[in-house]
Amino acid sequence: MKKTVLISLLVGVSIFAADYSSVIESPNASKMIQKDLLAPAKTYTMPSGCITTDADAIARGSFIFHNLNGKKAKGPLPKGLSRKQMKSGKTYLPGDKIPVKQFGNCIACHNIEGARGAGNIGPDLTAYKAMFIDTGVRNNQFVFQKIADPRIDNKDTHMTVNLTTKLFTTREICDIASYIVSEK
Ligand code: HEC
Repeated sequence: MKKTVLISLLVGVSIFAADYSSVIESPNASKMIQKDLLAPAKTYTMPSGCITTDADAIARGSFIFHNLNGKKAKGPLPKGLSRKQMKSGKTYLPGDKIPVKQFGNCIACHNIEGARGAGNIGPDLTAYKAMFIDTGVRNNQFVFQKIADPRIDNKDTHMTVNLTTKLFTTREICDIASYIVSEK
């Protein structure tokens, strides 16, 4: 009797010990990183009325260019820009924390008029209108596409992708582009 109990216990334990397949997860790592990879490069056509000389739009573009996010940004916000932004598709209840809005932080890589502590990974965008637009070297569509998805111009670019990643809306990219090509 004792022997039978012992054997069945041993068998039971060994069966339990031998089969881990149901408890060990073996995730497919390459599938998991798919969601973190960037979507393929996309070509965009600049909408009409995109580039504007409207002072508020240029001010918003400048603010997005020079600041990292709504929490760190100092000074008054231009009309039509917020420090916080609800994620699209998410429902917020009263009391829920609204995420801080991310800005462009373009000065991390680019110098431009009035930049403080600008980086030099990307080209200097100072006097962009006179140097590139008025000379016909670049046009507004190029600037729009570069900000929306720089990979179309340079597939190995180190610049951030802004429209394909939905980091910014088309209107916000128009504001930034308007700022870059504006007379400063
Ligand atoms: C991590 C660095 C980095 C950041 C951040 C960055 N850029 Fe760039 N940018 C580059 C580099 C590098 C180039 C040169 C071309 C290339 O490699 O794509 C470039 C090119 C450009 C050009 C084209 C200049 C020309 O006529 O040749 C524009 C316009 C531009 N960036 C605007 C922006 C704006 C606006 C932002 C912020 C939303 C931004 N960049 C953020 C690195 C950066």
